Amino acid sequence: MSTDRTRWQIRAERSIEYDVLKTRDLFSPENEVMLSGGKRNGGRRFVVVDGAVWHYHGEMLRSYFVARGVDARIVVFPGAEEHKTIETFQDLLRELDAFPIHRHDEPIIAIGGGVLTDVVGFVAASYRRGLPYIKVPTTLMGYVDASLGIKVGINFNGNKNRIGAFAAPLVVLLDKTFLRTLPRRHLLNGVCEIIKLAIIRDVQLFERLEIDGPTSVANSFGSAAGDALLDRAITGMLDELAPNLYEGELTRRVDFGHTFSYGLEVSPRLDLLHGEAVLLDILVSISLARRRDMLTERDVGRVFALIGRLGIQPDLSLLDAGVMWASLLDRIEHRNGEQRVPMPVGLGRCVFLNDVTFQEIEVAIAALRARTDTSRERALER
Ligand SMILES: NC(=O)c1ccc[n+]([C@@H]2O[C@H](COP(=O)([O-])OP(=O)(O)OC[C@H]3O[C@@H](n4cnc5c(N)ncnc54)[C@H](O)[C@@H]3O)[C@@H](O)[C@H]2O)c1
Repeated sequence: MSTDRTRWQIRAERSIEYDVLKTRDLFSPENEVMLSGGKRNGGRRFVVVDGAVWHYHGEMLRSYFVARGVDARIVVFPGAEEHKTIETFQDLLRELDAFPIHRHDEPIIAIGGGVLTDVVGFVAASYRRGLPYIKVPTTLMGYVDASLGIKVGINFNGNKNRIGAFAAPLVVLLDKTFLRTLPRRHLLNGVCEIIKLAIIRDVQLFERLEIDGPTSVANSFGSAAGDALLDRAITGMLDELAPNLYEGELTRRVDFGHTFSYGLEVSPRLDLLHGEAVLLDILVSISLARRRDMLTERDVGRVFALIGRLGIQPDLSLLDAGVMWASLLDRIEHRNGEQRVPMPVGLGRCVFLNDVTFQEIEVAIAALRARTDTSRERALER
């Protein structure tokens, strides 16, 4: 039978809708939100929990499912960047394969930091081509950043997040009490992402950080002021992410701090956390912006003063123009052929650069080091 048909066109739309929901006493049996998307009593759940969270809250978590009559397979995951691998991804898939769950009404539950929610989100996105899943961030990085959007994935071949997917969660559950046990280094790691957001889009958030940041870090964001800071950071982050969930637009303000940091972060020799690498990128960026007269000396001074007050001590000796330039080249591939480097123009606003040079990065690093040397000398003189 002959046909002159040469084309079939398929068009479909899938809307995305999920809540980012603040909650308390998440593991108290009266709280039902963790059972969203399925039966509130009975049924099954595949739960992956970060090792540190398990250490502090394991018994409560287990008792929660017992009290609700839910048959839960709880897998403890070690957390930390070195576990964001194809091997841990496969291990989780095998565990899941051995514990049958319904495709629609028994969502996977991911409880942990950004590493865990990224890996488990990718498991959920891949298994049977996609199962519903719930994210419960337990680090500040997860709380204000990693859990909020729809990107999931693992590191591969020495590259960060090289394999992954866009997979919207069913719901994101924010329970601030997890932050109480978070080590200070990891709290500050998350704070670096808040600083990023403040510099690039929200000078009022910057001012709040100046006023309430130090005590909020000291009390793990437990006070009303800490709450207000987190709310503003989350709102700002979601304002940036929500209209561009699939990154059809590659010119993104939230990429501030994520251009030159990439190579620093993947270097095992340096042992930098994500936010720590982002902060080094931010400092090089503001130094570069200062040289282009996009920031005043006062702006740059405020950023350094804020970091100091928060107790963050970036190690500028780790800065390496070659590595940072190589990162920019990789980002050009990632950003479809253009640099698209977000750069602040005054605190709270930004433009995008496409003409950053290797020499500029070198000069920016040298200026940063000279600046800190001078302030050290001044401190010694006093
Ligand atoms: N998907 C995204 O859009 C997105 C955005 C930003 C960052 N990320 C990813 O997030 C990852 C970093 O996340 P992270 O900083 O949360 O790291 P992480 O998940 O490794 O957690 C940091 C450490 O804290 C421990 N921990 C977790 N919760 C704790 C708690 N409540 N108390 C005590 N210890 C606890 C973990 O065991 C781990 O050792 C990176 O891989 C980064 O690429 C993803």
